[in-house]
Amino acid sequence: MLGNFSYCNPTCLYFGEGAISNLKPELEKYGKTVMLVYGGGSIKKNGIYQKVIAILNECGKKVVEDAGVMPNPTSKKLEEGARIARENNVDLILAVGGGSVCDYSKAVSVSAYCNDDPWEKYYIRFEEPTCKIIPVACVLTMVGTGSEMNGGSVITNHEQKLKIGHVFGTEVFPKFSILDPTYTYTLPKYQMVSGCYDIMSHILEQYFSGEDDNTSDYISEGLLRSLIHSSRIAVKDPENYEARSNIMWTATWALNTLIAQGKTTDWEVHMLGQAVGAITDATHGMTLSAVSMAYYRYIMPFGLKKFVRYAVNVWDVNPEGKTDEEVACEGLVAMESWMNEIGLVMHIKDLGVTPDMIDGLADATLIMQGGYKVLTREEIIAIFKQSL
Ligand code: NZQ
Ligand code: ZN
Repeated sequence: MLGNFSYCNPTCLYFGEGAISNLKPELEKYGKTVMLVYGGGSIKKNGIYQKVIAILNECGKKVVEDAGVMPNPTSKKLEEGARIARENNVDLILAVGGGSVCDYSKAVSVSAYCNDDPWEKYYIRFEEPTCKIIPVACVLTMVGTGSEMNGGSVITNHEQKLKIGHVFGTEVFPKFSILDPTYTYTLPKYQMVSGCYDIMSHILEQYFSGEDDNTSDYISEGLLRSLIHSSRIAVKDPENYEARSNIMWTATWALNTLIAQGKTTDWEVHMLGQAVGAITDATHGMTLSAVSMAYYRYIMPFGLKKFVRYAVNVWDVNPEGKTDEEVACEGLVAMESWMNEIGLVMHIKDLGVTPDMIDGLADATLIMQGGYKVLTREEIIAIFKQSL
Protein backbone atom coordinates (compact mmCIF):
# COMPACT_ATOMS: atom_id res chain seq x y z
CA MET A 1 0.00 0.00 0.00
CA LEU A 2 1.19 3.47 -0.79
CA GLY A 3 1.31 5.87 2.11
CA ASN A 4 -0.19 9.36 1.77
CA PHE A 5 1.97 12.05 0.18
CA SER A 6 1.99 15.40 -1.52
CA TYR A 7 4.22 15.77 -4.53
CA CYS A 8 5.67 18.76 -6.27
CA ASN A 9 8.82 19.06 -8.34
CA PRO A 10 9.33 22.63 -9.49
CA THR A 11 12.44 22.13 -11.67
CA CYS A 12 11.84 22.79 -15.35
CA LEU A 13 13.89 20.43 -17.53
CA TYR A 14 15.17 20.95 -21.06
CA PHE A 15 16.37 17.61 -22.38
CA GLY A 16 18.15 16.51 -25.55
CA GLU A 17 20.82 17.46 -28.04
CA GLY A 18 20.87 21.22 -28.50
CA ALA A 19 18.87 21.88 -25.30
CA ILE A 20 21.27 24.76 -24.54
CA SER A 21 19.11 26.86 -26.90
CA ASN A 22 16.71 27.16 -23.96
CA LEU A 23 19.29 28.93 -21.80
CA LYS A 24 18.76 32.39 -23.28
CA PRO A 25 14.98 32.62 -22.76
CA GLU A 26 15.39 31.26 -19.24
CA LEU A 27 18.19 33.71 -18.35
CA GLU A 28 16.00 36.59 -19.48
CA LYS A 29 13.68 35.86 -16.53
CA TYR A 30 16.40 36.75 -14.00
CA GLY A 31 18.29 39.91 -12.97
CA LYS A 32 21.56 41.21 -14.36
CA THR A 33 24.20 39.48 -12.28
CA VAL A 34 24.85 35.78 -12.83
CA MET A 35 27.35 33.78 -10.76
CA LEU A 36 28.83 31.16 -13.07
CA VAL A 37 29.96 28.17 -11.00
CA TYR A 38 32.09 25.39 -12.45
CA GLY A 39 34.71 22.80 -11.57
CA GLY A 40 38.33 22.16 -12.44
CA GLY A 41 38.19 23.10 -16.10
CA SER A 42 36.62 20.23 -18.07
CA ILE A 43 34.02 22.67 -19.44
CA LYS A 44 36.76 24.81 -20.96
CA LYS A 45 38.32 21.80 -22.69
CA ASN A 46 35.09 20.51 -24.20
CA GLY A 47 33.75 23.93 -25.20
CA ILE A 48 30.66 24.07 -22.96
CA TYR A 49 32.09 27.07 -21.08
CA GLN A 50 32.52 29.01 -24.33
CA LYS A 51 28.92 28.27 -25.37
CA VAL A 52 27.51 29.36 -22.01
CA ILE A 53 29.61 32.54 -21.85
CA ALA A 54 28.48 33.52 -25.35
CA ILE A 55 24.82 33.19 -24.29
CA LEU A 56 25.42 35.11 -21.06
CA ASN A 57 27.04 37.90 -23.09
CA GLU A 58 24.19 37.90 -25.61
CA CYS A 59 21.78 38.41 -22.71
CA GLY A 60 23.90 41.31 -21.44
CA LYS A 61 24.54 39.67 -18.08
CA LYS A 62 27.24 40.72 -15.66
CA VAL A 63 29.11 37.46 -15.02
CA VAL A 64 30.83 36.69 -11.73
CA GLU A 65 32.85 33.48 -11.92
CA ASP A 66 33.41 30.98 -9.13
CA ALA A 67 35.63 28.25 -10.56
CA GLY A 68 37.52 25.33 -9.05
CA VAL A 69 34.66 23.52 -7.34
CA MET A 70 36.27 20.20 -6.49
CA PRO A 71 34.62 16.78 -6.63
CA ASN A 72 33.17 16.36 -3.11
CA PRO A 73 32.95 20.15 -2.50
CA THR A 74 34.24 21.34 0.84
CA SER A 75 32.86 23.54 3.60
CA LYS A 76 35.90 25.77 3.12
CA LYS A 77 35.11 26.35 -0.55
CA LEU A 78 31.48 27.00 0.44
CA GLU A 79 32.56 29.92 2.65
CA GLU A 80 34.38 31.45 -0.32
CA GLY A 81 31.39 30.97 -2.67
CA ALA A 82 28.94 32.42 -0.16
CA ARG A 83 31.13 35.52 0.19
CA ILE A 84 31.40 35.98 -3.60
CA ALA A 85 27.62 35.65 -4.02
CA ARG A 86 26.87 38.09 -1.22
CA GLU A 87 29.45 40.71 -2.19
CA ASN A 88 28.27 40.72 -5.80
CA ASN A 89 24.59 40.67 -4.96
CA VAL A 90 24.02 37.93 -7.55
CA ASP A 91 20.57 37.31 -9.03
CA LEU A 92 21.10 33.76 -10.27
CA ILE A 93 23.66 31.02 -9.64
CA LEU A 94 24.32 29.06 -12.84
CA ALA A 95 25.97 25.71 -12.10
CA VAL A 96 27.74 24.24 -15.14
CA GLY A 97 29.09 20.80 -14.25
CA GLY A 98 28.22 17.64 -12.38
CA GLY A 99 26.69 16.89 -9.01
CA SER A 100 29.52 18.57 -7.12
CA VAL A 101 29.04 21.90 -8.90
CA CYS A 102 25.27 21.67 -8.61
CA ASP A 103 25.29 20.64 -4.92
CA TYR A 104 27.76 23.38 -4.11
CA SER A 105 25.65 25.98 -5.91
CA LYS A 106 22.63 25.02 -3.82
CA ALA A 107 24.77 25.29 -0.68
CA VAL A 108 25.94 28.76 -1.75
CA SER A 109 22.35 29.78 -2.50
CA VAL A 110 21.28 29.18 1.11
CA SER A 111 24.55 30.35 2.69
CA ALA A 112 25.21 33.75 1.09
CA TYR A 113 22.82 35.54 3.42
CA CYS A 114 22.95 33.07 6.33
CA ASN A 115 23.85 34.70 9.66
CA ASP A 116 24.96 31.38 11.12
CA ASP A 117 27.81 29.00 10.19
CA PRO A 118 26.26 27.17 7.19
CA TRP A 119 28.13 23.90 7.86
CA GLU A 120 26.82 23.77 11.43
CA LYS A 121 23.31 24.95 10.57
CA TYR A 122 22.57 22.84 7.48
CA TYR A 123 24.91 19.85 7.65
CA ILE A 124 25.25 19.20 11.39
CA ARG A 125 21.94 20.47 12.79
CA PHE A 126 19.94 19.84 9.56
CA GLU A 127 18.04 23.12 9.97
CA GLU A 128 16.10 24.66 7.12
CA PRO A 129 17.12 27.97 5.55
CA THR A 130 15.60 31.06 7.12
CA CYS A 131 17.45 33.66 5.02
CA LYS A 132 17.06 34.88 1.44
CA ILE A 133 17.73 32.04 -1.05
CA ILE A 134 19.42 32.85 -4.38
CA PRO A 135 17.87 30.94 -7.31
CA VAL A 136 20.01 28.18 -8.84
CA ALA A 137 19.98 26.76 -12.37
CA CYS A 138 22.05 23.99 -13.89
CA VAL A 139 23.70 22.96 -17.13
CA LEU A 140 24.55 19.32 -16.46
CA THR A 141 27.78 17.77 -17.75
CA MET A 142 28.12 14.63 -15.59
CA VAL A 143 25.32 12.15 -14.97
CA GLY A 144 24.54 10.30 -11.76
CA THR A 145 23.54 12.33 -8.74
CA GLY A 146 20.12 13.61 -9.78
CA SER A 147 21.15 16.96 -8.31
CA GLU A 148 19.73 18.63 -11.42
CA MET A 149 16.19 17.99 -10.19
CA ASN A 150 16.39 17.64 -6.43
CA GLY A 151 17.26 19.54 -3.26
CA GLY A 152 20.26 17.40 -2.33
CA SER A 153 23.50 19.11 -1.43
CA VAL A 154 26.44 17.11 -0.10
CA ILE A 155 29.37 18.94 1.51
CA THR A 156 32.61 17.53 2.91
CA ASN A 157 34.37 18.92 5.98
CA HIS A 158 37.95 17.63 5.94
CA GLU A 159 38.80 19.00 9.41
CA GLN A 160 35.91 17.05 10.94
CA LYS A 161 36.36 14.08 8.55
CA LEU A 162 32.66 14.22 7.69
CA LYS A 163 30.77 14.16 4.40
CA ILE A 164 27.12 15.01 4.90
CA GLY A 165 24.15 15.65 2.66
CA HIS A 166 21.25 17.97 3.38
CA VAL A 167 18.09 17.43 1.36
CA PHE A 168 16.64 20.91 1.02
CA GLY A 169 13.02 21.66 0.17
CA THR A 170 11.62 22.60 -3.23
CA GLU A 171 12.60 26.26 -2.78
CA VAL A 172 16.24 25.18 -3.24
CA PHE A 173 15.69 22.85 -6.25
CA PRO A 174 17.21 24.22 -9.49
CA LYS A 175 14.71 26.51 -11.20
CA PHE A 176 15.65 24.93 -14.50
CA SER A 177 18.18 22.36 -15.71
CA ILE A 178 19.59 21.80 -19.17
CA LEU A 179 20.36 18.16 -19.96
CA ASP A 180 22.17 17.51 -23.22
CA PRO A 181 23.38 13.88 -23.36
CA THR A 182 26.14 14.81 -25.83
CA TYR A 183 27.73 16.95 -23.09
CA THR A 184 28.58 13.73 -21.28
CA TYR A 185 30.58 12.20 -24.17
CA THR A 186 33.86 13.65 -22.87
CA LEU A 187 33.55 12.07 -19.42
CA PRO A 188 36.40 9.68 -18.61
CA LYS A 189 35.15 6.09 -18.38
CA TYR A 190 35.88 5.98 -14.65
CA GLN A 191 33.49 8.91 -14.06
CA MET A 192 30.86 7.54 -16.40
CA VAL A 193 30.63 4.14 -14.73
CA SER A 194 30.85 5.70 -11.30
CA GLY A 195 27.81 7.78 -12.26
CA CYS A 196 26.03 4.66 -13.49
CA TYR A 197 26.54 2.99 -10.15
CA ASP A 198 25.39 6.12 -8.31
CA ILE A 199 22.13 5.86 -10.28
CA MET A 200 21.84 2.15 -9.46
CA SER A 201 22.45 2.85 -5.80
CA HIS A 202 19.87 5.66 -5.63
CA ILE A 203 17.23 3.33 -6.99
CA LEU A 204 18.20 0.45 -4.71
CA GLU A 205 18.26 2.69 -1.63
CA GLN A 206 14.60 3.44 -2.27
CA TYR A 207 13.66 -0.05 -3.48
CA PHE A 208 15.12 -2.16 -0.65
CA SER A 209 12.77 -0.94 2.05
CA GLY A 210 9.28 -2.15 2.91
CA GLU A 211 7.40 -5.05 1.38
CA ASP A 212 4.20 -3.36 0.23
CA ASP A 213 2.94 -3.69 -3.30
CA ASN A 214 3.42 -0.19 -4.65
CA THR A 215 3.85 1.50 -8.01
CA SER A 216 7.10 3.16 -6.97
CA ASP A 217 8.84 -0.24 -6.83
CA TYR A 218 7.58 -1.19 -10.29
CA ILE A 219 8.93 2.10 -11.67
CA SER A 220 12.25 1.35 -9.96
CA GLU A 221 12.50 -2.05 -11.61
CA GLY A 222 11.94 -0.48 -15.03
CA LEU A 223 14.57 2.17 -14.37
CA LEU A 224 17.04 -0.48 -13.23
CA ARG A 225 16.52 -2.58 -16.35
CA SER A 226 17.03 0.45 -18.58
CA LEU A 227 20.19 1.44 -16.71
CA ILE A 228 21.74 -2.03 -16.85
CA HIS A 229 21.00 -2.32 -20.57
CA SER A 230 22.24 1.16 -21.51
CA SER A 231 25.34 1.10 -19.30
CA ARG A 232 26.55 -2.05 -21.08
CA ILE A 233 26.24 -0.26 -24.42
CA ALA A 234 27.77 3.04 -23.25
CA VAL A 235 30.86 1.35 -21.81
CA LYS A 236 31.65 -0.12 -25.23
CA ASP A 237 30.43 2.83 -27.28
CA PRO A 238 30.63 6.08 -25.25
CA GLU A 239 29.13 8.20 -28.03
CA ASN A 240 26.03 6.05 -28.43
CA TYR A 241 23.34 8.74 -28.09
CA GLU A 242 20.55 6.29 -27.35
CA ALA A 243 22.43 4.76 -24.42
CA ARG A 244 23.78 8.07 -23.06
CA SER A 245 20.38 9.75 -23.25
CA ASN A 246 18.69 6.84 -21.51
CA ILE A 247 21.28 6.90 -18.75
CA MET A 248 20.85 10.65 -18.32
CA TRP A 249 17.08 10.41 -18.06
CA THR A 250 17.27 7.42 -15.69
CA ALA A 251 19.60 9.35 -13.40
CA THR A 252 17.13 12.18 -13.09
CA TRP A 253 14.20 9.89 -12.29
CA ALA A 254 16.30 7.85 -9.88
CA LEU A 255 16.59 10.78 -7.51
CA ASN A 256 14.06 13.49 -8.26
CA THR A 257 11.96 12.33 -5.28
CA LEU A 258 9.35 10.48 -7.39
CA ILE A 259 10.17 6.85 -6.60
CA ALA A 260 10.35 7.51 -2.87
CA GLN A 261 6.74 8.66 -2.71
CA GLY A 262 4.43 6.68 -0.50
CA LYS A 263 7.10 4.28 0.79
CA THR A 264 9.95 3.97 3.23
CA THR A 265 13.58 4.14 2.03
CA ASP A 266 16.97 2.91 3.24
CA TRP A 267 20.06 5.06 2.30
CA GLU A 268 22.52 3.05 4.45
CA VAL A 269 24.80 2.32 1.47
CA HIS A 270 25.16 6.08 0.99
CA MET A 271 26.03 6.52 4.66
CA LEU A 272 28.74 3.83 4.41
CA GLY A 273 30.00 5.31 1.12
CA GLN A 274 29.99 8.86 2.42
CA ALA A 275 32.13 7.79 5.38
CA VAL A 276 34.64 6.31 2.90
CA GLY A 277 34.43 9.51 0.85
CA ALA A 278 35.03 11.74 3.89
CA ILE A 279 38.27 9.92 4.70
CA THR A 280 39.60 9.10 1.20
CA ASP A 281 38.00 11.85 -0.97
CA ALA A 282 37.28 9.05 -3.48
CA THR A 283 34.78 9.36 -6.34
CA HIS A 284 31.26 9.11 -4.94
CA GLY A 285 29.87 6.26 -7.07
CA MET A 286 32.95 4.14 -6.42
CA THR A 287 32.60 4.52 -2.67
CA LEU A 288 29.11 3.07 -3.07
CA SER A 289 30.09 0.19 -5.35
CA ALA A 290 32.93 -0.79 -3.01
CA VAL A 291 30.63 -1.31 0.00
CA SER A 292 27.45 -2.49 -1.72
CA MET A 293 27.96 -6.22 -2.15
CA ALA A 294 29.01 -6.72 1.47
CA TYR A 295 26.01 -4.69 2.64
CA TYR A 296 23.42 -6.37 0.44
CA ARG A 297 24.68 -9.88 1.18
CA TYR A 298 24.47 -9.04 4.89
CA ILE A 299 20.90 -7.64 4.87
CA MET A 300 19.48 -10.07 2.32
CA PRO A 301 18.06 -12.54 4.90
CA PHE A 302 16.19 -9.68 6.60
CA GLY A 303 14.45 -8.62 3.38
CA LEU A 304 14.41 -11.93 1.55
CA LYS A 305 11.08 -11.44 -0.26
CA LYS A 306 12.26 -8.23 -1.90
CA PHE A 307 15.63 -9.71 -2.85
CA VAL A 308 13.79 -12.57 -4.59
CA ARG A 309 11.62 -10.07 -6.46
CA TYR A 310 14.76 -8.10 -7.41
CA ALA A 311 16.48 -11.23 -8.75
CA VAL A 312 13.48 -12.23 -10.86
CA ASN A 313 12.21 -8.86 -12.09
CA VAL A 314 15.52 -7.06 -12.60
CA TRP A 315 18.07 -9.82 -13.31
CA ASP A 316 15.76 -12.36 -14.99
CA VAL A 317 16.70 -15.14 -12.56
CA ASN A 318 14.53 -18.22 -13.15
CA PRO A 319 13.07 -19.18 -9.75
CA GLU A 320 11.87 -22.65 -10.75
CA GLY A 321 12.98 -25.42 -8.43
CA LYS A 322 15.07 -23.07 -6.27
CA THR A 323 14.69 -21.91 -2.68
CA ASP A 324 14.11 -18.21 -2.01
CA GLU A 325 17.67 -17.94 -0.70
CA GLU A 326 19.07 -19.45 -3.87
CA VAL A 327 17.08 -17.09 -6.09
CA ALA A 328 18.07 -14.03 -4.04
CA CYS A 329 21.75 -15.05 -4.06
CA GLU A 330 21.66 -15.56 -7.82
CA GLY A 331 20.30 -12.04 -8.23
CA LEU A 332 23.20 -10.62 -6.23
CA VAL A 333 25.70 -12.69 -8.23
CA ALA A 334 24.23 -11.25 -11.45
CA MET A 335 24.49 -7.74 -10.02
CA GLU A 336 28.11 -8.31 -8.99
CA SER A 337 28.98 -9.63 -12.42
CA TRP A 338 27.46 -6.52 -14.09
CA MET A 339 29.47 -4.34 -11.70
CA ASN A 340 32.69 -6.11 -12.66
CA GLU A 341 31.76 -5.99 -16.33
CA ILE A 342 31.38 -2.19 -16.44
CA GLY A 343 34.53 -1.66 -14.37
CA LEU A 344 33.44 -0.53 -10.91
CA VAL A 345 35.67 -0.49 -7.84
CA MET A 346 34.63 -3.49 -5.73
CA HIS A 347 36.86 -3.09 -2.64
CA ILE A 348 37.50 -0.15 -0.34
CA LYS A 349 41.22 -1.00 -0.18
CA ASP A 350 41.32 0.03 -3.83
CA LEU A 351 40.15 3.50 -2.73
CA GLY A 352 42.93 3.79 -0.16
CA VAL A 353 41.25 2.36 2.92
CA THR A 354 43.52 0.36 5.24
CA PRO A 355 42.35 -1.88 8.13
CA ASP A 356 43.41 0.70 10.75
CA MET A 357 40.92 3.20 9.28
CA ILE A 358 37.86 1.07 9.91
CA ASP A 359 37.09 2.41 13.40
CA GLY A 360 37.16 5.94 12.02
CA LEU A 361 34.88 4.91 9.15
CA ALA A 362 32.40 3.44 11.62
CA ASP A 363 32.47 6.71 13.61
CA ALA A 364 31.65 8.66 10.42
CA THR A 365 28.76 6.39 9.35
CA LEU A 366 25.25 7.57 10.13
CA ILE A 367 22.83 4.76 11.02
CA MET A 368 19.56 4.87 9.08
CA GLN A 369 16.24 3.44 10.24
CA GLY A 370 14.43 2.51 7.01
CA GLY A 371 16.36 -0.53 5.73
CA TYR A 372 15.69 -4.21 6.34
CA LYS A 373 18.11 -4.19 9.28
CA VAL A 374 19.03 -1.23 11.47
CA LEU A 375 22.77 -1.76 11.78
CA THR A 376 24.75 -1.74 15.00
CA ARG A 377 28.28 -0.31 15.13
CA GLU A 378 29.64 -3.89 15.22
CA GLU A 379 27.71 -4.76 12.07
CA ILE A 380 29.01 -1.63 10.32
CA ILE A 381 32.56 -2.62 11.22
CA ALA A 382 31.93 -6.16 9.91
CA ILE A 383 30.58 -4.78 6.60
CA PHE A 384 33.59 -2.49 6.17
CA LYS A 385 35.93 -5.42 6.90
CA GLN A 386 34.07 -7.52 4.37
CA SER A 387 34.42 -4.68 1.82
CA LEU A 388 38.20 -4.46 2.22
O1 NZQ B 1 35.85 19.54 -12.23
P1 NZQ B 1 35.85 19.27 -13.68
O2 NZQ B 1 37.10 19.64 -14.36
O3 NZQ B 1 34.63 19.83 -14.37
O4 NZQ B 1 35.81 17.65 -13.85
C1 NZQ B 1 34.74 16.86 -13.34
C2 NZQ B 1 35.12 16.11 -12.08
O5 NZQ B 1 36.50 15.89 -12.01
C3 NZQ B 1 34.50 15.76 -14.32
N1 NZQ B 1 33.53 16.11 -15.37
C4 NZQ B 1 32.25 16.54 -15.20
N2 NZQ B 1 31.66 16.67 -16.39
C5 NZQ B 1 32.58 16.33 -17.34
C6 NZQ B 1 33.77 15.98 -16.68
N3 NZQ B 1 34.87 15.60 -17.36
C7 NZQ B 1 34.80 15.55 -18.70
N4 NZQ B 1 33.68 15.84 -19.39
C8 NZQ B 1 32.55 16.23 -18.75
N5 NZQ B 1 31.42 16.48 -19.44
O6 NZQ B 1 33.94 14.71 -13.56
C9 NZQ B 1 34.48 14.75 -12.26
C10 NZQ B 1 33.40 14.44 -11.26
O7 NZQ B 1 32.43 15.45 -11.22
P2 NZQ B 1 31.43 15.54 -9.98
O8 NZQ B 1 30.54 16.70 -10.19
O9 NZQ B 1 32.21 15.47 -8.71
O10 NZQ B 1 30.63 14.15 -10.11
P3 NZQ B 1 29.20 13.76 -9.64
O11 NZQ B 1 28.18 14.29 -10.58
O12 NZQ B 1 29.23 12.31 -9.41
O13 NZQ B 1 28.98 14.51 -8.24
C11 NZQ B 1 29.48 13.98 -7.04
C12 NZQ B 1 29.02 14.78 -5.84
O14 NZQ B 1 27.58 14.75 -5.72
C13 NZQ B 1 27.21 14.25 -4.43
C14 NZQ B 1 28.37 13.33 -4.11
O15 NZQ B 1 28.44 13.00 -2.75
C15 NZQ B 1 29.56 14.13 -4.56
O16 NZQ B 1 29.92 15.10 -3.62
N6 NZQ B 1 25.86 13.67 -4.46
C16 NZQ B 1 24.80 14.48 -4.59
C17 NZQ B 1 23.50 14.02 -4.52
C18 NZQ B 1 22.32 14.90 -4.63
N7 NZQ B 1 22.48 16.17 -4.90
O17 NZQ B 1 21.19 14.46 -4.46
C19 NZQ B 1 23.20 12.62 -4.27
C20 NZQ B 1 24.34 11.72 -4.51
O18 NZQ B 1 24.12 10.54 -3.77
C21 NZQ B 1 25.69 12.26 -4.16
O19 NZQ B 1 25.95 12.07 -2.80
ZN1 ZN C 1 24.64 8.92 -4.68
